[in-house]
Amino acid sequence: KETKLWGGRFEESVTPAVERFSQSVSYDKKLYKQDLRGSRAHAQMLAKQGLISQEDCDTILKGLLEIEGKIEREEFVWRADREDVHMNVEAALIDLVGEPAKKLHTARSRNDQVVTDVRLWCRDAVDEIVSHIHRLQDALLTLAVSNEGVIVPGYTHLQRAQPLLLQHLLLAFVEQLERDAGRLLDCQKRLNFSPLGACALAGTGLPIDRFETSKTLGFTYPLRNSVDAVSDRDFLIEFMSANAIIAVHLSRLAEEWVLWATEEFGFLVPSDAVSTGSSIMPQKKNPDPMELVRGKSARVIGDLTTILVLCKGLPLAYNRDLQEDKEPLFDSVETTIGVLEVTTEFAQNVTFNKERLAKSLSAGHLDATTMADYLVYKGIPFRTSHDIVGRAVALAVYKKVELSQLSLDEFRSINPIIDEEVYSFLGSENCINKFQSYGSTGVSCVAEQIDYWCQKRNLP
Ligand code: ARG
Repeated sequence: KETKLWGGRFEESVTPAVERFSQSVSYDKKLYKQDLRGSRAHAQMLAKQGLISQEDCDTILKGLLEIEGKIEREEFVWRADREDVHMNVEAALIDLVGEPAKKLHTARSRNDQVVTDVRLWCRDAVDEIVSHIHRLQDALLTLAVSNEGVIVPGYTHLQRAQPLLLQHLLLAFVEQLERDAGRLLDCQKRLNFSPLGACALAGTGLPIDRFETSKTLGFTYPLRNSVDAVSDRDFLIEFMSANAIIAVHLSRLAEEWVLWATEEFGFLVPSDAVSTGSSIMPQKKNPDPMELVRGKSARVIGDLTTILVLCKGLPLAYNRDLQEDKEPLFDSVETTIGVLEVTTEFAQNVTFNKERLAKSLSAGHLDATTMADYLVYKGIPFRTSHDIVGRAVALAVYKKVELSQLSLDEFRSINPIIDEEVYSFLGSENCINKFQSYGSTGVSCVAEQIDYWCQKRNLP
């Protein structure tokens, strides 16, 4: 059995259970690229500062390159007894090039090393998630463009409220996603600072140059406080919160579309490519992917909860508990990308049942609020208009008709101020034509929004 890299003061080796329990290499090997990158920057800085010779540095760099090749060809043997990705790489480097490799860990601890790796990894992960967000925005936008003029019932409390342009509804999701991307890019700016050189917690007496490694690794600056650098994971909490918000947004979209795909609604028809069947009921065609988008949001929320609880009781500075940050982080990112990807494909594979939507508009008095606006035009205070229209609705409900089917006499029996013009405010199409406030579902407002987004996203 080989002695550990930290084995100097130990007489006994750890028990197999402890070894199994404390290893992280089975999952943190995912960080190998960042770890190699960090080691390269560190070795070069050590040479530049005269802490190691250029010759040793070159040997280290050559060795790291060889290790990278091995990892990529899947020839590298990851060893649980070497604990984590950092010691696997370092020990393998010593096996490979001997003495010079033993100088690599000068003025470095795994405590600053691991969090450097994780920050580098998150920086790239943000870019990847943002590009998936853009793809989903494009899919929703494309869907909106191809459904110009389609009116749908809008709901509050899941009760019929007012008519909406389908485009307007789809753009609401596009807006949410834009803020989601903004949150990610924001937290990316905040996390892009270098912990490298903070060492275990106190920094070092050796003449290293943290600004140099920070620059080489593309960080904005080195973190100012070495204790803070190795101990906080607030950047993960922030990143995973942003992911949780994305997941919650998509879960709501998923819920809406699952509902719309029911026999009862029948507004939305997913293609076979994004539906699955039942093992017993031959007639079934289920929107499983969207149900899973809804379901998997639970994981992303859970991952955030894990990191929050993980951090809440920790004294300064580094504690081994922090090793438990990686699995939830990886899961959060993987799942967020998954839900974005599948929602994009779903959006590319649905059609709206326009006939069904059109028919559905003639129930629920979606035009009542617009009729109240009509009375406001007539000079009636809104509270009074509300009451007049309320009584018109009651009459329509009693007669089992829509507002537009009431006769002028019937309207006038409620209030004689009502004239022929009222009919131009009734019916969903008329209503849509009346909307004009900024951000409303009015035809020209929505057309402007579509233009704005198509230009922003560079779509035809
Ligand atoms: N695998 C460890 C982690 O992920 C690396 C740091 C270990 N540091 C230590 N002093 N044991 O946190």
